[in-house]
Amino acid sequence: MAACSTGTLGPMCGIVGYVGPQDARDVVLEGLRRLEYRGYDSAGIAVVADGTLTAAKKAGKLANLEKVLAEHPLPAATIGIGHTRWATHGGPTDRNAHPHLSADGSVAVIHNGIIENFAALRAECEANGIEFSSETDTEVAAHLLAAAYAAAPAGESRLAEAMRTVCRRLEGAFTLVATSALEPDTLVAARRSSPLVVGIGEAVDGSAEYFLGSDVAAFIAHTREARELGQDQVVEIDRHRGLTVTDFTGSVVEPRGYTVDWDAAAAEKGGYDWFMLKEIAEQPQAIADTLLGRLGSHGELVLDEVRLSDQELRDIDKIFVVACGTAYHAGLIAKYAIEHWTRIPVEVEVASEFRYRDPVLDRSTLVVVISQSGETMDTLMALRHAKEQNARVLAICNANGSTIPRESDAVLYTHAGPEVAVASTKGFLTQVVACYLVGLFLAQVRGVKYEDEVAAIVADLRRLPDAVAQVLSGMDEVRELARELADADTILFLGRHVGFPVALEGALKLKELAYIHAEGFAAGELKHGPIALIDQGTPVVVVVPSPRSRESVHGKVVSNIQEVRARGARTIVIAEEGDEDVVPYADHLIRVPRTPTLLAPVVTTVPLQVLACEIADTRGLDVDQPRNLAKSVTVE
Ligand code: G6P
Repeated sequence: MAACSTGTLGPMCGIVGYVGPQDARDVVLEGLRRLEYRGYDSAGIAVVADGTLTAAKKAGKLANLEKVLAEHPLPAATIGIGHTRWATHGGPTDRNAHPHLSADGSVAVIHNGIIENFAALRAECEANGIEFSSETDTEVAAHLLAAAYAAAPAGESRLAEAMRTVCRRLEGAFTLVATSALEPDTLVAARRSSPLVVGIGEAVDGSAEYFLGSDVAAFIAHTREARELGQDQVVEIDRHRGLTVTDFTGSVVEPRGYTVDWDAAAAEKGGYDWFMLKEIAEQPQAIADTLLGRLGSHGELVLDEVRLSDQELRDIDKIFVVACGTAYHAGLIAKYAIEHWTRIPVEVEVASEFRYRDPVLDRSTLVVVISQSGETMDTLMALRHAKEQNARVLAICNANGSTIPRESDAVLYTHAGPEVAVASTKGFLTQVVACYLVGLFLAQVRGVKYEDEVAAIVADLRRLPDAVAQVLSGMDEVRELARELADADTILFLGRHVGFPVALEGALKLKELAYIHAEGFAAGELKHGPIALIDQGTPVVVVVPSPRSRESVHGKVVSNIQEVRARGARTIVIAEEGDEDVVPYADHLIRVPRTPTLLAPVVTTVPLQVLACEIADTRGLDVDQPRNLAKSVTVE
């Protein structure tokens, strides 16, 4: 099996579609370039021109497909679809690349998700004499669609009707986009628990043009007018009749429209070698934007969407923060701040574990889900589980129009702008800042903090963009250090209190970008085992809390630095300006500005991001698209 379509470890894949007067080949390829971060195991494109469907696909990065297209160009067309894949089971081969065509070549389909009953459907197709040319489940959809098309009543919207018929038979999660030589002016798409947005623009000749994308990055260069597709909906885009959205039974529904506030230029590299470097540099602005407009006219904090009453918020007696990967680390930091400010107990859990252990949830539980993309399937499933148990759900999310905020009771958007590099940086820091805002919001609604106390902390938050900018301006030494550490076999990261999740995040960044073994530990836990890993010259990065932090945590970390150094470690110390206690024990000292203890992760994470990025670059690796990863993983 293969494709973005099988298995329980899932991908996201990029999906693009275009209907309009421009050359669909160019629009689709450009969209794929913008979505390649979603998967880069293969790429493919199909166009309908003069009533004929033609397709090209190739394993490997998009550049491979572009080479094929340069040698064997597809005809110019006004309708096209494109796909970039992140493989799960099965090889990332040419055969398994999308689009997949029906046996008669009349229908082309691209897909993201899993068709869970594909084996039974494949057997049924084979019993009808159809020969499969790939191992993917997607191909089933192409054959079923061709059969349903043949059986649909003649007239308009036959392809859409066929799509609805097929979708009613499919189990699992999917975004499907189909085009057919038999209906050359129409593009049809469907979604269930997998992302798809529609863009509506006006071409230079004044006529309407339509875009489909897994996310808005696919089309923001052309339009910012978007339509959100709901669960179990089919969209038909016809060159003459425009856009029609229905549910799987055919009832027409009105999609919600919204304007994307991301700047098209924000999705370009803008002179940086890597998107990640650009996104690291954008962090001061991203934090400032996330904080913008949060205080109401009476000094009260405001979130973006709150469909919960103050009484419901006051009744909350327990909080779970649920997320994956880097977003999970933001949740770990949130625990310290939210508990401290609200006195509500907070548990933090990876989303893929959360719902399987039967967590104790009821209507007075608040589940905070954090997701940059708003589409991570593990997080979405955790959200749905929480809602089934009557818990309230608040989402912290970066992508407007995505599934997670749509299904939540309250939303706080991080205004980080598009994040393209697979490793999250500005997404992470803005998630941390958003978590602080949620903590303060709850403290305020519940009367634990007065507005002036909240305002004082918000003022501290507003100093963070400058603090991060200051850290970024002093990164030359970190770049130098990266060159020295590029050949390390193992790098360890230590921290206490909020520095512990920062250590975990530093280690994750290094693993995912530089493929170097790295682990983050609570500094106090080191002596209970991991200290045995330290050998002569082992690099150990230590995130030192402020000397002003509570209960001598600072002193304990300084002792931990001495312990590892005594065992031969090469110490890389991240400490606040003016902290002289660390100087004698630091082989390398990276300074960060003085910051209130709970907010310190926003500044101490930055050198670790730069370190990982520069080590990966020194090792000659693809910083933006690390091996085996995808930006957001839309199946479980
Ligand atoms: C993937 C990415 C990670 C990211 C995680 C959660 O695994 O590779 O970088 O942290 O998903 O993504 P989300 O969009 O939910 O924040």
